[in-house]
Order: sequence, then structure tokens, then C-alpha cells
Amino acid sequence: MSVSDGIEAALCVLALWFVSQSFYSVTFHPLSALPGPWLCAITRIPYWIQLFRGNEVHWLHDLHNRYGTVLRFGPDDLSYISSGAWKEIYGNRLELSKAPDYGIQPANGIRSLSTTDVDTHRLWRRMFAPAFSEVGLRKQQPIFKEHMDAMVSLIERRLDTNLRSTSPSAKVELTSIFSFATFDIMADLCFGQPLGLLERDRSSAWVNSIFKLIKLMPLSLFVEYYNVSRFLYRKFEPKCIQKKKHEHFQHSAQRVHERVKTGSTRPDIWRQVSPAGPTEKLSLNAMCSNAELFMLAGTETIATLLSGLIYHLCLRPEKLELLKNEIRASFDTVSDLSFRRLSQCAYLNACIKEGLRIYPPVAVGVPRVVREGGMLIDNCWIPGGTRLSVAQYAAYHSERNFRDANAFIPERWLPRGAQNKTDVDVHADPSPDVFHPFSYGSRDCLGRNLALHEIRLIMGALLVKFDFELCEESHGWEKQLNFLMWIKEPLFCLVSPVPSKN
Ligand code: HEM
Repeated sequence: MSVSDGIEAALCVLALWFVSQSFYSVTFHPLSALPGPWLCAITRIPYWIQLFRGNEVHWLHDLHNRYGTVLRFGPDDLSYISSGAWKEIYGNRLELSKAPDYGIQPANGIRSLSTTDVDTHRLWRRMFAPAFSEVGLRKQQPIFKEHMDAMVSLIERRLDTNLRSTSPSAKVELTSIFSFATFDIMADLCFGQPLGLLERDRSSAWVNSIFKLIKLMPLSLFVEYYNVSRFLYRKFEPKCIQKKKHEHFQHSAQRVHERVKTGSTRPDIWRQVSPAGPTEKLSLNAMCSNAELFMLAGTETIATLLSGLIYHLCLRPEKLELLKNEIRASFDTVSDLSFRRLSQCAYLNACIKEGLRIYPPVAVGVPRVVREGGMLIDNCWIPGGTRLSVAQYAAYHSERNFRDANAFIPERWLPRGAQNKTDVDVHADPSPDVFHPFSYGSRDCLGRNLALHEIRLIMGALLVKFDFELCEESHGWEKQLNFLMWIKEPLFCLVSPVPSKN
């Protein structure tokens, strides 16, 4: 047999294998009865294309609109948008494992809280709990408030620079300010010192590299998904990338080392991490891995929500007015703001919930993998190895769950009666309990309380001090790509200082 005959035969075998695999996938495969495009049942290619185009979020939303609450969007991938799915997938007492390709592996080889095994995870959650509890956060409040002063002062400086003598307001770009504030706060809590971004009004190379990393997420997911590409990448990973990863990790690790060496009297995270038992202690390496995780998970998520919230409030000035009235009736100055009092502001809380619904920072589902042997979900047998997730954006923008789902209506989260007469009766939302922006179950967001306090404090400080109006060029800002995180364009607002009361 000649070489070309050999190649021909191999191609024939491959084609036969592909056809029979495809036939099996759409006919006898245990998931074949579930709705979804037939091409997606055969191959993951449509999903990869959408992921690389930054369009996964909207693609899944469209498919759910067409196919319903359960969707097969890959041969072994199911997406759900029903409230019960959260409990079955993320709250399952069998603890389905996270898909291994999601989550960044720290360069020191020690897995962080988000990717570590079940037992270590349980232990660490107990150790970290005090630092992220209400009591712990109240102790940290002065740290947050220092950064509020720095944030306000930065906006004032930008105003001074941009203000024209004829106008009381000036154009200010806000997404960078939110990123600077959230990175400075989290660095202070993790390293015992801020990064000084608010003070310098400039990002740092390290922070910029985090944004570059986010854009590379689709590539990383692709490479990590297939055994062959993972093996090849590990074997032939370019030296320059290895070096960059190492340098990136070292940047935060060095700061954690310094923080541990010099100690601190400030109530940062490490001062509040409790030993879970007489012999349990967090190793320095584990501290470094988790610090890197906190710097990723606890910064852009908040900055994203804040940007989206301000944007949607500016588009609905009557809602912004209600919020301003609530904040300004309760607080005269930034120093009056407190975690406790802000948490009692009903309209602020409703606006934040609505911001998290209409523009969820974690907009795609983080998949869990069904164990060997399979399991029943919604009376349907799901084989082992299947990936399950709840797609947050699709769930929150579905009319199956929320009425007038694309409209920003904070009132839907207020008790009946507090609702604005002009709004649709959003209390008839069919399934608001699908809303879990911080996920659900044992691996839900560790920083939920911290995030909510920080968001309320930043919103409080902004509204006590400034008025906002969306600039013409930022209309349509919400049309963004998403690479697991939203890729935000600059958000320009006309900002004017509120005359002080005294
Ligand atoms: C608006 C802000 C935030 C949102 C929407 C958010 C959302 C989420 C979600 C959906 C998850 C679950 C991911 C999964 O299923 O694997 C998660 C996990 C996590 N988040 Fe957040 N997050 C926010 C802010 C924060 C902050 C401020 C921190 C503080 C450090 C934080 C730390 C974490 C950690 C450590 C995990 C992993 C928990 C575990 O695996 O046990 N997050 N977050």
C-alpha cells in the first residue's frame, strides 16, 4: 500500500468515526433528548467560536430564548436558567466538582481556595470566615473609608483639570476610577498596603497584566479542555510566558511575604484569619495563592458592577433622582457614611440588586462536572462527565424569570406598595428566586458581604458628593464583549460637585 493510500484509509476511518460519533450524539446519547441546536450536540466548535468572539453570553441567551430553560450547547455541556437548577448543581450535597479548566493555577503550584480539593476547601472556608464576616468587615471599615476619601479627592482633581470656567460640570471617565479604588482596597486588605493607584491616578503594569490575562481566558479554556492541547502546551509553553507568569505571581507573593515579616496592627485579612484547629495554620505559600485569588476575584467584579450601575442609573434619571434623595436625606458628608447605616438604605439595596441582575459581573455559568455514574436532574438522567451550569445573564434576562427583563427597574426588589406606579407590575416576576449573582452552595462567593459593603460605600460617597449625567459618547456602553468578564469600554459622565450643606 502506497503512502497516499495509507493517508486515504486513515482519513476514511476518521470520517467514519466522526459520522458514527455524530449519529450517536444526536440519537442514542443520554443527552440526545434535551433541546439545543443539533450541531452543538455533535461538536463544541460553535461554542468555541462564540467564546473567542466574546459573544458567549448573548449566544446562550438567544439559545435559551429559543430552546427553553435547559439547553444542550455542546456534546457534554448543559446550561440551565431555572431557579431549581442552582440547588441541584451548585447546592448539591454530593458537591459536584468544578470543571478543572476554570480557575487560574497559581505559579507556586499551591491551589487557591477556588480550585483546591473538597477537604482543604472546607478547612480554608472556616479559616477565612472571620475576615469576611460582618464583625470582621466592621473592623476593616476604617480602611475602606480611607480609600473613599482618596477616590473623592481623585474625582475632584479630575474635575479641576477638566472644568471649564463656563460650566459647573466636567467630563470624567469612571471605569478607571472604580478599578483604581477596588484594587487599592483589596491590596490594602491582602498586602497591608494599597497600590497607590488612586493617589497617582495611574494604573500599574501589574494591574494592566491582569486585564491582559482576562482577555486570554478563552485561549486558556480551550487549551486546558483537550488532553492533547493541554499536554502540548505544558511541554512547549514558551519560556517568555512562563517568565511573565512567574513575575506576575512574585509581585503579589513578595508583598504577602513583606506583610508577614513586618506584621500589622491594621485589621486586614491576615490578622483575622483564624486557625481552624489547634494544628491548623495557613502556610505562607497558601497565603500567596489566595492573595492572588482575592486580587482577581475581589476587584474587577466590583468595578464592573459599579460601572454598570452608574450607567443604568444615568439612563433612568428618575431612578437616579430617587436614589440621590435617599442618600442625601440620610448623609450630609462622606464621613457620615457607615456600613451599618448604608445597609439600611432600601432603595440603594434595590438598585444594587437590579444592577447585579441586568449586568451580572459573572455573566456566564461556572460549570460543575457530574460524577462518574451520573445523576438525575429534573427527572432526566445525566451521565458522568457532563458539565452543568446556570448562565446568569441568560437567566436574568429571560422573560420566563423576570417581567420586562431588559428594563432597569429597582422597584422589583422593593416590597409591594413601594413600587412606582409607572412601572409594570414587576412583583409579578415569574421566578425572581433564580437570582444568585454570588452563586450558591458551598463554593459560593466568599467575598459577598465585603462586595456589598464596598459597593454601598462607593455609591454613597459618589452620590453625597457628585451629580452624574451620561455623556453622549457613552450611550450604548452596555454593548460589550465578554471573555468570562465584561470587557468594559471607558464610561464618560458629566460630573458636577454637589454644593456642601454647611
Ligand atoms: C460584585 C462582586 C462579586 C461578584 C458578583 C462575585 C461573584 C462570585 C461568584 C459567582 C463566585 C462563584 C464562582 C464559582 O462558582 O466557581 C465567586 C467566588 C468567589 N469570590 Fe466572588 N464575587 C464578587 C466579589 C468578590 C469579592 C469582593 C471577593 C473578595 C476577596 C470575592 C472572592 C471570591 C472567592 C474567594 C471565591 C471562591 C470561593 C470558593 O471557591 O469557595 N468575590 N464570586
